[in-house]
Amino acid sequence: MRVGAVIIGFGNVGRELSRVLARRAEFLKTEMGVEIEVRGIAASRGYVTIGQDWRKEILDLASRYELGDKGFLRSSGDPLELVDLTSPDLAFVAIPPSYTTGEPNLTIYRGLLKRGVSIITADKTGLALRYDELFGEARRRGIYIGYRATVMAGTPAIDVITGLVGREIRRIRGVLNATTNYILSLVEKGLSFDEAVSKAVAEKLAEPDPRIDTEGLDPSAKLAILVNSAGVKISMENIKRTPLTSVPENIVREAARSGRRVKYVAIADMERKTFSVSPEILDPEDPLSNISGNYNGLSIDIEGEKILLTGPAGPAWRTAGVMFTDLISYLNQRQG
Ligand SMILES: NC(=O)c1ccc[n+]([C@@H]2O[C@H](COP(=O)([O-])OP(=O)(O)OC[C@H]3O[C@@H](n4cnc5c(N)ncnc54)[C@H](OP(=O)(O)O)[C@@H]3O)[C@@H](O)[C@H]2O)c1
Repeated sequence: MRVGAVIIGFGNVGRELSRVLARRAEFLKTEMGVEIEVRGIAASRGYVTIGQDWRKEILDLASRYELGDKGFLRSSGDPLELVDLTSPDLAFVAIPPSYTTGEPNLTIYRGLLKRGVSIITADKTGLALRYDELFGEARRRGIYIGYRATVMAGTPAIDVITGLVGREIRRIRGVLNATTNYILSLVEKGLSFDEAVSKAVAEKLAEPDPRIDTEGLDPSAKLAILVNSAGVKISMENIKRTPLTSVPENIVREAARSGRRVKYVAIADMERKTFSVSPEILDPEDPLSNISGNYNGLSIDIEGEKILLTGPAGPAWRTAGVMFTDLISYLNQRQG
């Protein structure tokens, strides 16, 4: 079987993904009998199509792009032009999130579905805002959407939650944003929130617009995707967000001195249908109190017991690896 793909978004994740695909194409051929070919890549300023020798070409383009050479892109504001030119079976999406308007992300997802193109995405926007619409359309058209990379990237949170569908999940609690772990650890050490956030942005750990982390947009998006994956339809617009910085700095430090920790916790009460993200003081015995650094954690209350999952979120190379796992699921589904 031959599978044509495009990569939309050629930043940290998109470039790492291109390397994973080039390196592991041989595995797909020998183990699954699949010949994959990447037919093009798109970034914000345009796209480029790729020829027969795509593995060599894409590695070269990734290196050039990393060094700031973007001159090979044909100027265009619409990645769907690349899709129309190359007719892929599958699009990998690794563009930045857009939580205020949802655009251009939602238009890109809708355009892919309309054209019958399956999707493997690391961007949370579409499913956090319009999970039901996008999956409804995908089901009608028999299209695959892979989204393991959207929540806890390096740790199979989506597999765990979808493996519990139909069971009586009472509550989901998660520390789902590694950047706020880092910011809180700096505040514990004596920095103000302003200093800690500036440091996280300077070190490229926070999003360029840090409110995506500190005002709870990123963890709300992840919670919305988890809740939908558990079978309850919500949009991240239904989640109440309290800014991380609403907790006084001295409370963060006092909690740490007494063995407790402040964490930015996403909570879904599945019985009451209430959803929130807010800073909370956690006792030492709370399994989420030790989640720190690049780790995320999930605690699921089900049938009077708890299921706990902790593990790494990014970075980009790991996220790309998870998108490759989605690719294998897509191929398995196609091969029936
Ligand atoms: N980094 C991680 O470990 C990680 C983990 C899980 C999920 N994610 C998610 O994965 C996505 C990508 O992350 P990243 O770290 O790779 O971001 P990034 O380095 O900022 O790269 C984003 C890429 O998307 C391109 N882009 C922006 N708008 C576009 C548009 N309208 N059409 C086509 N391309 C567009 C950018 O173009 P230019 O090159 O022209 O700027 C850039 O190449 C984000 O949604 C992020 O939240 C990342």
